[in-house]
Amino acid sequence: MNKIRILSILILIIFSSSNINCQNRAHRYSAFHPGKIWKDSDGNHINAHGGGIYYEDGTYYWYGEHKGDDSKAHVGINVYSSKDLYNWKKEGIALAVEKDPNSEITAGSVMERPKVIYNKKTGKYVLWFHLELKGKGYSAARTGVAISDTPTGPFKYLKSYRPNARKWPKNFKESSKREFKKGEIGEWWTDQWKKNLLEGSFVRRDFEEGQMSRDMTVYVDKDGTAYHIHSSEENQTLHISELTDDYLNFTGNWVRVQAGGQNEAPAIFEKDGKYYMVTSGLTGWDPNAARSFVADSIMGKWSALGNPAEGKDADKTFHSQSTFILPVEGKDDAFIFMADRWKPNNHIDGRYIWLPIEWENGKPIIKWKDEWDLSFFDEN
Ligand code: GAL
Repeated sequence: MNKIRILSILILIIFSSSNINCQNRAHRYSAFHPGKIWKDSDGNHINAHGGGIYYEDGTYYWYGEHKGDDSKAHVGINVYSSKDLYNWKKEGIALAVEKDPNSEITAGSVMERPKVIYNKKTGKYVLWFHLELKGKGYSAARTGVAISDTPTGPFKYLKSYRPNARKWPKNFKESSKREFKKGEIGEWWTDQWKKNLLEGSFVRRDFEEGQMSRDMTVYVDKDGTAYHIHSSEENQTLHISELTDDYLNFTGNWVRVQAGGQNEAPAIFEKDGKYYMVTSGLTGWDPNAARSFVADSIMGKWSALGNPAEGKDADKTFHSQSTFILPVEGKDDAFIFMADRWKPNNHIDGRYIWLPIEWENGKPIIKWKDEWDLSFFDEN
């Protein structure tokens, strides 16, 4: 009787541990499956939307918006780590919302599109993100900055900006550098409004307070200079601004890019000395056709290359919106286009579309793949 008991306990143990193994195995990935549920090492769908990646010493860190069923920040910015880009471990909350109702990052604010860069001079990790103040919709249009001594945080919130207050863009006409006159915006969407916009009516309107900053990314150039790239002027025009040496402030050196071009969700990468940018148009959570641009330097001039997506659903960027372009470590010319397939009715279910950048006649191209892995870059 005892023997039977011991034997059945043993069988139970073996069965349950093999079951655990099975579960673990189920969450080990060796390929990307764009648009599918992507589980972290605990078995939960990764919660890192509008994200960006920072790489150091064999580890990738993925920062992204924690989302519940709505799009507000109730938790903060999550960070995950990975050695192989397929399997991600949740490291925790990089930057948590604050309880204090007077804090700019109080629960219920909007914290979007977090991006982390490392500052060699100060030894600090610097996190920038799009901040909207609680209860004010998207009208604050600010960018927030936080720092940490480690890539996983916790990051300490420093402050937020309307960038470049009292600074004219470098590529602004002398005649445009004038005081804002009430009424010079004009009636929205009319030809006159567009003409005024191109000539800088919104820049003049926001000259004292600082320029609007919504969808954004940050980029560190080869010489260590960092740039903040954001949708401004009521999302009509991109601004590219140089950051100070410590990456915590704006130098006031900035340019307008594609004035009136209505770009958001910017993502930048560099190949063979040329800079490429992918953006989306302005349709909120709904997908639209991506755009691509090329320049010889970050500050421009940026020239349009057209929609980088090809094939079925290219006009909707495969139902996604750009967020980051990741250079794969140790591989030449290997870049991953990272995008969000938003689920505005249940944000936590938002999916990740990661696809390799391909090239055709010097143009970055994105094609759909149900499944792919990093060997793609060795074969193509
Ligand atoms: C999108 C933007 C998202 C979020 C959303 C809000 O266009 O890319 O980051 O801000 O609008 O509607």
